[in-house]
Amino acid sequence: MSHKLQPVRGTKDILPEEYRAFHEIGQVAREVGSYYGFQGMATPIFEFTEVFARTLGDVSDIVNKEMYSFEDRGGEGITLRPEFTAGIVRSVISQGLLQHIPLKLFSMGPVFRYERPQKGRQRQFHQINFECFGLADAKADVEILALLMQLVHTLGIQKKVELEINSLGDQASREKYRELLTQYLEKYRTSLSEESQLRLVRNPLRILDSKDEKDKVILTEAPSIAMSYSKEASAFFSEVQEGLTILGIPHKVNPRLVRGLDYYCHTAFECTTSFLGSQNAVFAGGRYDGLVKAMGGPEMPAIGFAGGIERIIALMEKKFAAPIPVAIIPVEDGATKQALLLAQQLRGNGICTEILYNGNIGKRIRKAADKMQAELVVILGEKEMMAGEVTVRSLSKSKEITIKQHDIVRYMRHVMQEVVTVTPEEKE
Ligand code: HAM
Repeated sequence: MSHKLQPVRGTKDILPEEYRAFHEIGQVAREVGSYYGFQGMATPIFEFTEVFARTLGDVSDIVNKEMYSFEDRGGEGITLRPEFTAGIVRSVISQGLLQHIPLKLFSMGPVFRYERPQKGRQRQFHQINFECFGLADAKADVEILALLMQLVHTLGIQKKVELEINSLGDQASREKYRELLTQYLEKYRTSLSEESQLRLVRNPLRILDSKDEKDKVILTEAPSIAMSYSKEASAFFSEVQEGLTILGIPHKVNPRLVRGLDYYCHTAFECTTSFLGSQNAVFAGGRYDGLVKAMGGPEMPAIGFAGGIERIIALMEKKFAAPIPVAIIPVEDGATKQALLLAQQLRGNGICTEILYNGNIGKRIRKAADKMQAELVVILGEKEMMAGEVTVRSLSKSKEITIKQHDIVRYMRHVMQEVVTVTPEEKE
């Protein structure tokens, strides 16, 4: 097979079972988000390159190495979105949405980063994303984290993730810390990994989440960011932690959690897992009070987070089964028109229906049972046609009954309801 038939490295096809999982995760996210006042919106998949280049940080990995940027035919610098936040901020400023705060927005869709593909890391992946504008209080951080953890529970992955939080402090705290950390790491410059040596000049805070073993040893004695907090930053972080404790949300303070994007301040957080190899973040986000202003909008506090859909699916144990269909078998040629009519009625009432036209009856019933995993087979023979009836065979119960054709929707609804409300354990 020509390699051109393969998806591009770092991308993949989403086949039906995974597609159903995507759909369900989107539904859960939209629904749980709505309990907290979030509304859905969408921004374009590509933006002018400056939207990301200026905002994510000149020294961030994303801007330096990972953006899918190109010049379009009109000579415009365009970038496929490497995340949602910058595009949403661009949109809320340009659409004047910030006149109505608090503004809480949910989005989902594909995201593109030119990273080295590995387990849990792709070049095209998908995020569910939440952004909240206009709330400066620490209680907003607590509510966002409550939403995140409700999502985690609803998705059923709570046993596989842990909430880690940190405060990056305000700008003054961060600058002070940057100096302290640089001073400390300078002493070990030549022992640091190559990557960290480069970061030491450009973005020393990122060295804190280095995966290099030697770097980790050097970092054990490094000064903690907490030492540099201003009084206000410290009080803000205490209030966030207190709120989490009141709501009974377990969390771990990780002073090394710094995040890879430059726009964060105060609360930064990640939901991490040990089930995905070296890719340990499933959800991540934080407060970014300065970004709206930096992009040309008003002074505007903001906080948000995103979850990687592929990583969430990898943690979910649930099977995403296809809906159970009904199979109609017209025995005689003369019954096919009636089969079409019955199928139309069933489908019009939300019941998945297939018509099996050809082959001998036994084979068609077997096909319905094995290939289609149908629950019910509707047989339309000569006898049934004459009497205006159908024979309905339940495959799981090996039972057969005859009903009037005009009763078919009512009957199927009733039986399908019973089938779908039976839990998987009961079914076995
Ligand atoms: P992020 O940490 O860059 O944050 O990405 C969020 C999540 O996207 C990660 O926790 C992970 O689940 C998923 N993810 C990231 N890169 C990949 C990849 N290469 N392959 C698969 N999944 C990946 C942001 O994007 C921020 N915009 C979040 C945010 C929203 N902060 C404030 N508001």
